[in-house]
Formats: sequence, structure tokens, C-alpha cells
Amino acid sequence: MKAIDNLKQGNVEWVEKIKQQDPKFFDELAKGQSPEFLWIGCSDSRVPATEITGTMPGSIFVQRNIANMVVNTDTNLLSVVYYAVKALKVKHIIVCGHYGCGGVKAAMSNERLGFIDNWLVNIKNVYKMHSKELDAVEDEDKRFDRFVELNVIEQVQNLAKVSFIQEDWDNGEFPYIHGWVYGLKDGLVRDLDCTINSNEALQRVYQYNS
Ligand code: CO
Repeated sequence: MKAIDNLKQGNVEWVEKIKQQDPKFFDELAKGQSPEFLWIGCSDSRVPATEITGTMPGSIFVQRNIANMVVNTDTNLLSVVYYAVKALKVKHIIVCGHYGCGGVKAAMSNERLGFIDNWLVNIKNVYKMHSKELDAVEDEDKRFDRFVELNVIEQVQNLAKVSFIQEDWDNGEFPYIHGWVYGLKDGLVRDLDCTINSNEALQRVYQYNS
């Protein structure tokens, strides 16, 4: 039980540290949240949203799953997005993938992994969309990196296909949807410059009338 006790001890020490810096921190946070950002990231333990962005609790509303996927039938994710956009009125949604993603790597392979294969099919479908480009990259590491990037770009697009997000775009400029990739080796985030705040870039069939 040593490991779990360390977590509890870590929590107590963290509270003390925060209180030293800002005695009213928890009183203020307990009043409510008004985060400006929604983060859709990978469950990978090495990519925690607040730590890598140098922000504190209260700044980022978070949804994480294997390989930061936006699956348009995922009621869990869609409920988080709905609440973030409609109730919290976040201005920015960030889809953040990361190089070295185990989910993306597994989806690239032909290994049978069990139940999780059903989730990985969503990632394999992204490979299929970009198979011409990806198959042409001979170096496997480079192909892996590019697949991670393309997967993020496709998830940004999948968010844009959500009708209640398009509804908000009819009424204003927000939310902006950004695609980032985090580098495990250097701790730095790369912006993939695929930010969108309209449905114009989508194929016609995904565009809802305003
Ligand atoms: Co990952």
C-alpha cells in the first residue's frame, strides 16, 4: 500500500504548497468554475493538461481517452463538449495528441489486442483516409509521427461535424477548435495550424444550415 499512501501524502503536501502561495485559492475555486478551455487529450499518464500548460485547477475542462479521439457516437465525450460549449461557454477547444502515442502505434499494427481493438478501429479508419500519404513514408518512425498528426487533424474535423457546435458558429466566432501535438521527448507543444471556427472547410454533406 506504499504507492497509494504516497498519493495521499502528496495531496496533503500539495495543498500546503498552494495555500502558502495563495491562502484563498481553495475558497475561490469552491465558488465555481469558469474555464476558458476544453481539452480533449490522450489518457496517457505523461500528458496531463494542466501541468504541461503551466495552468492551475479551474483553467481547463478536460476529456481524455485513448488516442484523443472524437467519435461522433461517444455520448460521454459529446456530453462533456455540450456542457463545455453551452454552459461553461469555453472559447477554445484543444485536441491534443502526442508523439509516441501507444493507441496510434497499436492502430498501425496488425496485432490483435482484444477488446480495445474495437476502439482502435476508429484510429485505423483515419489511416485508411490518409493511406496514400502514410504508405509513402518509408521510415516507420516518421510514418508514426505523421499518423499522430493526421489523427489530431481528423479529430478537429470530427468536432466541427457536431451540429450544436455549428449552431454556436452561426451566432458568433466561438468556439475555436485547435489541433496540437505534444512531444514526450522535449515537453513542448506544436500547433498543427488546423484551427477552425466555421464549417466551411468540411465537405458539404457535414454542413448544417444556419
Ligand atoms: Co496516447
